[in-house]
Amino acid sequence: MTRSAIRFVHRGAVTTLDGFAPTRTVLEYLREDLHLTGTKEGCAEGDCGACTVILGRPADDGTLRFEAMNACILFVGSLDGAWLITVEDLAGPDGTLHPVQQAMVDHHGSQCGFCTPGFVMTLAAYQLAGAEAEIGTINSWLAGNLCRCTGYGPIQQAAREVAGTDQPSWFAQQIDRALPLLQGLVRDTVDVAGANGRFFAPESTDGLADHLEGYPDATLVAGATDVGLWATKQLRDLPHLVNVKSARDLAEVTVTDAMIEIRGAATYTDAVPAILADYPEAETMFDRLGGVQVRNAGTIGGNIANGSPIGDSPPFLIAAGARLRLRRGDARRELALEDFFIAYGKQDLRPGEFVEAVLLPRRNPDTLFGVYKISKRRDQDISSVLAALAITVDGSSGLCTDARLAFGGMAGTPALARHATTALIGQPWTLASIRQAKSALAEDFAPLTDHRAAAWYRLEVAGNVLERLYWQHQGDNVATAAHA
Ligand SMILES: Cc1cc2nc3c(=O)[nH]c(=O)nc-3n(C[C@H](O)[C@H](O)[C@H](O)COP(=O)(O)OP(=O)(O)OC[C@H]3O[C@@H](n4cnc5c(N)ncnc54)[C@H](O)[C@@H]3O)c2cc1C
Ligand code: FES
Ligand code: FES
Repeated sequence: MTRSAIRFVHRGAVTTLDGFAPTRTVLEYLREDLHLTGTKEGCAEGDCGACTVILGRPADDGTLRFEAMNACILFVGSLDGAWLITVEDLAGPDGTLHPVQQAMVDHHGSQCGFCTPGFVMTLAAYQLAGAEAEIGTINSWLAGNLCRCTGYGPIQQAAREVAGTDQPSWFAQQIDRALPLLQGLVRDTVDVAGANGRFFAPESTDGLADHLEGYPDATLVAGATDVGLWATKQLRDLPHLVNVKSARDLAEVTVTDAMIEIRGAATYTDAVPAILADYPEAETMFDRLGGVQVRNAGTIGGNIANGSPIGDSPPFLIAAGARLRLRRGDARRELALEDFFIAYGKQDLRPGEFVEAVLLPRRNPDTLFGVYKISKRRDQDISSVLAALAITVDGSSGLCTDARLAFGGMAGTPALARHATTALIGQPWTLASIRQAKSALAEDFAPLTDHRAAAWYRLEVAGNVLERLYWQHQGDNVATAAHA
């Protein structure tokens, strides 16, 4: 069945909405249509977190899963099937502040107030998730919210205070009311079309494939952490959006003996735990990929399909030997991920085709792995260089039998360093071999100088992290290795 309106839960009731423009954002809807102005606009590009709202969706275990999202780049059509929670929904009916709000007051966590509703909503999501009060965890949760006046100390204190606490009775009642309403919202295909354009949200991957065969020029959108900015910053006209995230079977992550299959609409939040179980070295990269709001919305499929030379997950996936499964209609083809990136802005994606899955091989226990994100700021920054290095060393001969050295920020696409790889394979695992591979990087890449980094710096840092991987794996033999 196809519906011509979305349905979602808001303020204790089901809202039905139709006729909206495909790029209407949740922030615009809240502030301009509902006059709920507690949710602020700071940047309108997903960076500052002032617009943070929480979406609740039924989880498989019968509970609700809550996620902080940036409303400024979230298209209203993607609310279908969700509970939209804003800062107006936290206080009790008699005006008693929610514990998160009270903690912000008690610890002087707010001054100008522009960022405050966003911080409050992120902290509410943090509390709902039962996240721990450890400072690294708190900072990771807060990285997607910027404040220019108070400083983060008082906000961290507020986070510590609410960690592990229960919801107040009135909010627990809201949860009890929302859950059956959400469970009653049958998921089906949504097609909102009108003078303002078309927002199509298929219920399944098959429905997505069918639709794209008929409309190969439609714009695919997943988490909209890139596409949202085309609308809010580039003011691009996107008259026909197709939401891949509504296809529930496209969000699955399956782990078999051979493979981690990350389907095309799986978010970072969905996929990263399974990836890190095999590749813990990628944790610092994923933890620094956007903030929690970006990771809740953004998908690995979108990170690949946008073809950015500075996307973080492609070099990691290339180094790990991932393959891509593309689909058009019922036809599927598979290719090595590195072959998908043809040139700057040009990917091997045909009209009507979409990313159905990323196939990530399970970890080879003999492979040494390192993932290094080099950026000006620790958090919420795009990489100057992303290096993902996989080197297999044969235990008995001490020779490098395989190497996949992948980089972002070094060329027009994420790419393997083929000369450096050739220089390493068959060589002993020594500092001398690593330094030879380092020198060969100059044959692989002629990086750009831009506002993120100079060309010389990119080459230097790429070589240095290669050497760093070596030293990281010397353990007690550092002195010996230094003279090898
Ligand atoms: C504040 C902020 C911080 C960010 N930080 C980082 C960062 O640190 N590192 C980084 O790498 N990126 C970063 N990004 C970029 C972005 O979050 C990622 O590229 C993200 O993975 C994109 O996924 P998405 O689901 O939001 O894609 P969308 O924006 O929905 O789509 C991106 C592109 O992919 C296409 N597409 C989406 N799904 C499919 C599919 N299944 N098949 C074919 N095409 C598809 C779309 O048509 C579009 O061209 C950041 C973005 C923001 C707003
Ligand atoms: S307004 Fe800055 S993240 Fe939305
Ligand atoms: S109190 Fe956050 S920006 Fe001023």
